[in-house]
Amino acid sequence: MSQPRIPVIAIDGPTASGKGTVAQRVAQQLGWHYLDSGALYRLTALSALRSNTQLSDQERIAALAATLPCSFSGAAVRLSDLDVTEAIRAEEVGNAASKIAVLPAVRQALVGLQLSFRRAPGLVADGRDMGTVIFPDASLKIFLTASVEARAQRRYKQLIDKGFSASITDLSRDLEERDARDAQRAAAPLRPAEGAFVLDTSGMSADQAVAQVLRWHAQISA
Ligand code: DC
Repeated sequence: MSQPRIPVIAIDGPTASGKGTVAQRVAQQLGWHYLDSGALYRLTALSALRSNTQLSDQERIAALAATLPCSFSGAAVRLSDLDVTEAIRAEEVGNAASKIAVLPAVRQALVGLQLSFRRAPGLVADGRDMGTVIFPDASLKIFLTASVEARAQRRYKQLIDKGFSASITDLSRDLEERDARDAQRAAAPLRPAEGAFVLDTSGMSADQAVAQVLRWHAQISA
């Protein structure tokens, strides 16, 4: 008899849509593990930037991704011995992550690491291709989105709260460029998975979005 698969809730969507906050809180409420797959692309991008690797050098970046010396404990992210929790959130690193994420060999190099997060009792996975490519058998698939204005406001607040400087105009332009790159790339483009519930959080609080995801989870588990 085949083993029941460990359940996965896949939450995909564009940058600054609130997926990270919602996914983390859903994981906390259910007592499940959490995968921030964007952090893996950001860690790879940071390694490339720090080693002066060209962001188009697919082979070298895939090698960096395949051997990422990263570890996660709670909200803290480490690369080798360095705490890079804040460093990977910088806009420069996010933009570099979006550039290296178009490279198929880099995406392939990160598959095994992402699958290794699937541990009992369950996983909430956040990214762009969680429901389409990495966990196509996810029990619940959600596409979380919000208007560019709402996302730029949220990202602005996050950056200012963390002590980074930011401009709404620059952030909106960067978001639109990044959305276009994430959605138009050939490898695992950003799009709702088949059967995904679409949740537009523009006028919603994080609490309301979490409550909606938990309602859908309860419905499909009933
Ligand atoms: O979610 P984020 O902003 O931390 O992700 C950073 C970049 O990584 C994003 O612009 C696209 C890429 N990414 C991806 O291609 N696939 C994922 N599953 C997660 C992130």
